[in-house]
Amino acid sequence: MKSQSFINEFLKSPVKVGSVIQSSKILARTMAHQINGSLDVVEFGAGMGSVTEHILRRLPPNGRLICFEINSKFCEHLMTIDDPRLTVINDGAENCHKYVGRLECVVSGLPLALFSKTKRQEILDISSKSRRFIQFQYSLVLKDTIKEHFSDVRIKFVPLNFPPAFVFVCTSSGKQTS
Ligand SMILES: C[S@@+](CC[C@H](N)C(=O)[O-])C[C@H]1O[C@@H](n2cnc3c(N)ncnc32)[C@H](O)[C@@H]1O
Repeated sequence: MKSQSFINEFLKSPVKVGSVIQSSKILARTMAHQINGSLDVVEFGAGMGSVTEHILRRLPPNGRLICFEINSKFCEHLMTIDDPRLTVINDGAENCHKYVGRLECVVSGLPLALFSKTKRQEILDISSKSRRFIQFQYSLVLKDTIKEHFSDVRIKFVPLNFPPAFVFVCTSSGKQTS
């Protein structure tokens, strides 16, 4: 069962997995809605694909989604999603430059608040090179840190998730979100 497998992986590595259960459908839909017509989407920390599936529903037919996930069990599951637009890479988001050139849109479920300051900075530096960065968090503690990396940051509250979540929608270079 999908949710039991997720819990098992959380119990093995709570800090790396960062959440005991997967994102709710409403949180996944809210995140995916924000790709806003992007053709090339990269997902960091795809887990077992709760957000991935919703991104694929929103992605244009000629779009491409590349998922980075460090947990090999989660990757095995992601690889069962039958969609030619999807590529799954069992490697850390911090290594994405080895596989992807320009980042257009990044959707992230990474547990940024649990990362070391250095690793968090690294991920935000990489992500700030994208046109659009969509990240969920369970609190607003990183609000100022995230704002340092983007010219425009909007926050959407999603109460129907456990725990309730905030979706950060970030753009750089004066580009606006909808
Ligand atoms: C909170 S879970 C989110 C899973 C899924 N996106 C969701 O919303 O249900 C965070 C995920 O990030 C993955 N992760 C942690 N550090 C990572 C890294 N450096 N690169 C890629 N994935 C990472 C974990 O294995 C886990 O699957």
